[in-house]
Amino acid sequence: MSEHFNLTVRSSSHEYGVDVAADGLEVLLASQPDALLIVDQRFVAEPAFAGRRTLSVVADEEHKTLAEVGRLLVELREAGAGRSDRLIAVGGGVVQDVATLTAQLYMRGLPWSYAPTTLLAMVDSCIGGKSSINAGSFKNLVGSFYPPTSVAVDPRFLKTLPEVAIAGGLAEATKIAYCRGPQEFERYLKLEEGFEADPSQLIYHSLDTKRWFIEIDEFDTGPRLFLNFGHTFGHALEVATDFRISHGIGIALGMFAAEQFGSKTGYGASDARLSGHAIALARVDPECSNAGSRLDIRAFEAAFLADKKHGPDGLHLILPDAAGSVAEVVVPRTDAMVAAASEAVDSALAMVVR
Ligand SMILES: NC(=O)c1ccc[n+]([C@@H]2O[C@H](COP(=O)([O-])OP(=O)(O)OC[C@H]3O[C@@H](n4cnc5c(N)ncnc54)[C@H](O)[C@@H]3O)[C@@H](O)[C@H]2O)c1
Repeated sequence: MSEHFNLTVRSSSHEYGVDVAADGLEVLLASQPDALLIVDQRFVAEPAFAGRRTLSVVADEEHKTLAEVGRLLVELREAGAGRSDRLIAVGGGVVQDVATLTAQLYMRGLPWSYAPTTLLAMVDSCIGGKSSINAGSFKNLVGSFYPPTSVAVDPRFLKTLPEVAIAGGLAEATKIAYCRGPQEFERYLKLEEGFEADPSQLIYHSLDTKRWFIEIDEFDTGPRLFLNFGHTFGHALEVATDFRISHGIGIALGMFAAEQFGSKTGYGASDARLSGHAIALARVDPECSNAGSRLDIRAFEAAFLADKKHGPDGLHLILPDAAGSVAEVVVPRTDAMVAAASEAVDSALAMVVR
């Protein structure tokens, strides 16, 4: 039977509660009967939203734009939203990103609640308050912090989620647990065994672990940066495969590549359990089997070098360390290091098809 969990997250502006419960959506909607809704178009015809003022969003990268936020701001006005109104967002990371910025900008800010519908959003992005908006060809170039006032995680949404999206969400949960340390990673691996029967415990554990990072470093200048583990390799891989590899699977491959890069160059440590788990998650995605032949290695290297975390002192990478967690290391921006990064990604893709 699915359990009910809750936790409280402290941000600099307010505290907010997160409920993980199988009736989470209904409870949230009933608690705010007049709130306006911003809903993934996929769910807009659900009976739960009938009779409510509802705006819809197409959940893809092409709609994660300032133009989409502008459209929602106008539609909110046309729907009669005033300064005392509240918003509820229902959807995955795309809806969350546009809703966060819309809520922050509308009449200088409306309180908003969030019901995540993807595993990635449930285990990771639903807390922390970030918005990330694409501009031109640049992914996540525009952003802000504007935490919700409450979060309702309703695991029933997972029933319709494709297997690849489940694996991608588990990759983000793996990342969070590993970044916190060996005990949390151990606990995550145990919870993952029971995930299908009851996802609530793993979701709660992941959010509780992420909470530590965002409460001590809300604005991403210190330890929260560790949560970029897998992202420098993974995001470059997404770009170099023309986004055929999804974000979550990119993170799984990126963690494996970071581990390979670290152990080969001596800047990091090897961890067979981490890399084995990451590859098992990536294998769920049939796209990975073809990704090797489609990988544009020049595009990979360009994206790897363009990561916004790098500095004038070198390439800033989050790599596994000898203590079974991660550390930020600065490696020289040399051809040899870029070649080692490409080899690490090649070996990740080779492992997936093996
Ligand atoms: N702001 C943050 O902190 C943060 C963190 C991580 C990722 N992101 C962003 O989130 C986005 C990815 O989000 P995502 O992976 O959660 O998914 P998504 O919002 O991109 O949705 C992916 C697809 O899944 C569908 N979908 C959503 N819920 C479903 C369900 N329950 N059943 C079936 N289909 C469903 C959507 O309609 C869409 O077609 C990226 O743009 C990424 O940059 C933001």
